[in-house]
Formats: sequence, structure tokens, C-alpha cells
Amino acid sequence: MNNDSPIGIFDSGVGGLSVFAELVKLLPNENYIYFGDTINLPYGNKTKEQLIDITGKIFDFFESKNVKAVIMACNTTSAVTYDTLRTKYNFKIYPVVQSVAKCIANENHTNIGVFATNATINSHAYKNEISKYNPNCNIFEIACPEWVNIVEHELQNDEKSIQNIKMYLDEMLTYNVNSIILGCTHYPYLLDVLQKLAPNEVYINPAKYFANYIVNDLKQNELLSGKKSHEPKFYVSSKPEQFISASKLFYKVDNAQEISLNELLIK
Ligand code: DGL
Repeated sequence: MNNDSPIGIFDSGVGGLSVFAELVKLLPNENYIYFGDTINLPYGNKTKEQLIDITGKIFDFFESKNVKAVIMACNTTSAVTYDTLRTKYNFKIYPVVQSVAKCIANENHTNIGVFATNATINSHAYKNEISKYNPNCNIFEIACPEWVNIVEHELQNDEKSIQNIKMYLDEMLTYNVNSIILGCTHYPYLLDVLQKLAPNEVYINPAKYFANYIVNDLKQNELLSGKKSHEPKFYVSSKPEQFISASKLFYKVDNAQEISLNELLIK
């Protein structure tokens, strides 16, 4: 492993592309390998044991690719598995929730909302991490379990989806929040709809904070690459066509290779 080794980045599907798109703008000269674990999607309804198993297998996959760092562009696995797996690998691991919490906490919000998957909400990871740095902030958490499938199947403009999005937003707004964290990397794909229902400034997309955090940390650790030897490579565990089609809102993927890591399938 050296500075020109690839950076691994993963999510259950296209969600992590919201992070990848920000990162590649800041660091265009890195060698990226993206993995979308579409066969196991949605992660948000899985148990802790299942998520540790899946994430461990993805880390093993990246280890076999000799990566220098892995970006957990997935709130669910960051919230639920990072503490268990963080010391087991010799590459750098960047979990989204823990990496952005300090930055959001320092913005001194008073009432902040979090939309995320069931597993992320049940872990209270955002609440716990933000409270460490800003104990006076009131944090209201709501799970939106349907939203990942809405994004993966490009149903964001369907009337049923819009009603569903509005239902959770209406509930959140009863708490008088001034800002809402989109605490699942899929959710920024819904911003077109969300910003018609409440002003755009209300929404916090952690991807931007996360990309900056990663760049600074790689710099500090003198891990930046000076040489790009290949274009980003995209792997998925099922349905590459669906992944390619849904990707287009954030990063236009032209080609995704299906890898039969059968052992990744968690029933
Ligand atoms: N996009 C992921 C997250 O940030 C996973 C969503 C899912 O598969 O449920 O939580």
C-alpha cells in the first residue's frame, strides 16, 4: 500500500455517490473504487449483526484491492458497525456520521432534526455524536424507511412518494427545527422535492462536510496521491443497469461491473 493505492468507497447503492461526487471534485487525482451493495439493500432494516457481517466482507474486499483508505459513504454502517470494526484493518477508515458531527455541532444549532434509516435512528448516532460537542442542541430524530427505495427506483416525482416525503417533513416541522440533517446518503437525491416543501437552507447535506473532512485528513497524514492511474471503477453486487440509471442525479456512472461476492448476500 502506498499514496497511489486506491481509495475504497461504499454504500448499499447509489447513495454514496452523493459523497463521491463531492470528493472527486476536490481530489480528482485519486484512484477510486466504488462498491454499491445493491443485493443487500436496504441496509436500514438490517440488524447490527447482519450489518457487521456485511461491512466486514466489504472491508475484506477492499483489503484485497490494496486500498489506502475506505470511505463509509453510508450513515447506517457508520452508525452501527464502525466502533466494532475500526481497529481490525490497516487502512484508514472514514465513517460519515462521526466525521461530520463535530462540524455540524459547531454551527451552534438550537433545534436540529435528523432524517435517517431505521438502524441509524435506533442507534441515536447523530444525537450522541453532536451532543458530545454541543450538549445544548435539541435533536429530533425521525426514520424514513421508504426513502431509500424511492431513490433507488427513481420514484421521487411520483405522487405517492411526494405524499410520503411530506408526511415525514410535516412531522419534523412540528418540532420547530431550524435545520434538518439528511442523515442517509440517499436522501440528497430527494432535495428537489424537499426544497419545494421547506426552504433549501433548512437542509444539511453531510456530503460536503464529509468530503472536506476527508481531504484535510488525507493531507495531514500525507496520504494524497500524485498520480491517477485509472478512472473510477464501479462495482455492484446486483442490478448494474438500475444502479447506472439511478446514479445520474449525482454522478453519471457509465459502466458498473457486477461482482458475484455471493457470500455478501445476507438473507
Ligand atoms: N445510504 C445509506 C445510509 O446512508 C444506506 C441506506 C439503506 O440501504 O438503507 O444510511
